[in-house]
Amino acid sequence: MELQSFRSAIAEVLKNRRSCRDFAPQAVEAAEVAEILELVATAPSAWNLQPWRFVLITDPETKEALQGAAFGQKQVTGAPVVVALYTDMVDALDRVDDVLHPSLPAEAKEGTKQRILGSFGRMTTAERDQWGKAQGNIALGYLLLLLELHGYASSPMLGFDPPAVRKILGLPDHAELPALIAIGKAGPVHPGPQHRFPVDQLLRYVE
Ligand SMILES: Cc1cc2nc3c(=O)[nH]c(=O)nc-3n(C[C@H](O)[C@H](O)[C@H](O)COP(=O)(O)O)c2cc1C
Repeated sequence: MELQSFRSAIAEVLKNRRSCRDFAPQAVEAAEVAEILELVATAPSAWNLQPWRFVLITDPETKEALQGAAFGQKQVTGAPVVVALYTDMVDALDRVDDVLHPSLPAEAKEGTKQRILGSFGRMTTAERDQWGKAQGNIALGYLLLLLELHGYASSPMLGFDPPAVRKILGLPDHAELPALIAIGKAGPVHPGPQHRFPVDQLLRYVE
């Protein structure tokens, strides 16, 4: 595809995407969603810490339990797949050696590692975990766009009880959850056009 038509296609996708609460009963291959998650994992993060982790849920009983934790939101069981996007800063910092770029000389690696550990050492645990959650939202943006590009409808959700979701999925207490995302093919009930601020209400220039 020519670059110009590629850009127009992306613009169309962005302007038309809506959160879906009515999914078609059609099954979705978990492997296809996993391929999309592989692309999501290319997202950038501060210090390249990549603190995002994913749980891909197709098991009906687990979805049922998650729906209870998500205040009964029907899309949790209505969608064939639910992804729990969480961030784990303990694991991310345990793996700090793995995120340093292999092209860095050993001395620079050690220096960066100490700056990273020093920076998080000055934070409270809550600050550290919120920092990780903010990085997780970068992955969420990637995921919502990529799903749409691959022809899937999605419903991002923050309306759930995090401790209950952690318990159902066996996540550690320090895990933060930027979102649960219900994923599938859109059903017949379309939510209508998008409603957003025009950019001139959001943007100012300093020249
Ligand atoms: C992080 C996040 C959490 C959200 N949580 C919920 C939710 O729990 N339940 C729900 O029905 N919609 C939820 N939404 C959907 C928003 O209400 C929706 O994105 C917004 O109203 C704009 O509508 P649109 O996505 O259809 O364009 C959430 C969206 C985001 C990005």
